[in-house]
Amino acid sequence: MRTEELIKYDREHILHGMAAVGKTQSFVVESADGIMLTDTDGRKLMDLSSQLINVNLGHNRREVIEAAKEQMDKLNFAFLLRGFANLPSIELAYKLSAITPKGLDRFLWAQTGADTIDSAFRIANLYWKAKGSRKYKIISLYSSYHGTTRGVARATNLAKGVTEEMPPAPGHLHIPNYYCYRCPFDKNYPDCGILCAKFLEYTIVNEGEDSVAAFIAEPEQGSIGFIAPPPEYWPMVREICNKYNVLLIADEVMTGFARTGKMFAVEHWNIVPDMLSMSKGIVNGYLPFGALALSGDIFETLSGHFLPIGSTESGNPVCCAMAMKCIEIYVKERIPENAARVGRRAKERMEKEFMALPHVGTVDGLGLMLAVEIVTDKESKGLPNPKLTDFIQKLGIEKGAVLRIIGNRLGYAPPCTITEEQSERALDILYAVLSQLKPQDLKP
Ligand SMILES: Cc1ncc(COP(=O)(O)O)c(C=O)c1O
Repeated sequence: MRTEELIKYDREHILHGMAAVGKTQSFVVESADGIMLTDTDGRKLMDLSSQLINVNLGHNRREVIEAAKEQMDKLNFAFLLRGFANLPSIELAYKLSAITPKGLDRFLWAQTGADTIDSAFRIANLYWKAKGSRKYKIISLYSSYHGTTRGVARATNLAKGVTEEMPPAPGHLHIPNYYCYRCPFDKNYPDCGILCAKFLEYTIVNEGEDSVAAFIAEPEQGSIGFIAPPPEYWPMVREICNKYNVLLIADEVMTGFARTGKMFAVEHWNIVPDMLSMSKGIVNGYLPFGALALSGDIFETLSGHFLPIGSTESGNPVCCAMAMKCIEIYVKERIPENAARVGRRAKERMEKEFMALPHVGTVDGLGLMLAVEIVTDKESKGLPNPKLTDFIQKLGIEKGAVLRIIGNRLGYAPPCTITEEQSERALDILYAVLSQLKPQDLKP
């Protein structure tokens, strides 16, 4: 089949999540290596979003493939439910505990990010039940993303109205997100006193401390367009959660595994959450896998209690073997350090060169999770035409890159293995795309 026919068949037969049914992009990926994708027309495209910010180690890592093959030859499957154990799952727990924040060395395996967070919510509820309490409410941020399954979609609040078909879920509450460029409280950092963090305390007090089970947030908001928090934010929410006995869940599904220039983003602020969710980079996109790290306190509290959580695939030995190999590479090749170094240089260039463009409002993000916000003009910070997203994606493809454009924020999240020289070339493409935008393209 030729590309045109493939796209036609895709459009007519495959439903794509997070897109209108029947919408298909203009290229079909066939193979990939390092930071490059090859499509069915043989075009080479730079992958500047590491697919869905999960292929952090780059494409075609032979060592990970070999680790999977070896594991399949030895043992392709042995389940973990009902207390059964398999060797790779134990070895992975041991390896993972060497890199997770101190104290988070108990693990629950899952399949996807959403599945991991669904388990975190259930564990929060079970934890308080085990303590004889009725704390059940989950607080998350407006504009947050924690997945789309029915169990977590109520905590996600990315696109207004996307959960309208569902019955109400009164156990979920939202508070304003951190977003200094467009502060929900109309304040300016640092005079704001970090109201977005303080609002958590206000909400807990008003809802009743005895009803709030957990607060969940992304250390850097991902799916809304790579928004980094002010440095005081996480230490403040940690303190508030301590004060009111509320479990703190850091959703590191996107930020984990080197993405922000640290192995885990919470290391930027030296805080340790009670639970930390991982997926994406843990297996570099090779297979679906997720992990939830838990504190000793949660583990001890649940000890002896029946855990009504899990699936056939929890702790799949092949996923565990691949995750172990990926961890080995993150450590051996010092991938977080590379993301920090290349990301620092990229941000400097964006701040100098990109900010000089009349329609670039701000530059944001940590490590290699960076974004440029496009506005109609710097003074009004006006939002450009929503059609800009498709237009920019098309321009990017023409210039040789698959870009991550989220609303009016153009992301930069290449594989964390990218070299400085490759990154300079990628930024040339980003700059060329941005400087080609004309006022008429931006008009709302
Ligand atoms: C922060 C965060 N949490 C959860 C998820 C959901 O993960 P999955 O798509 O694997 O269900 C995502 C996915 O992008 C995410 O970015």
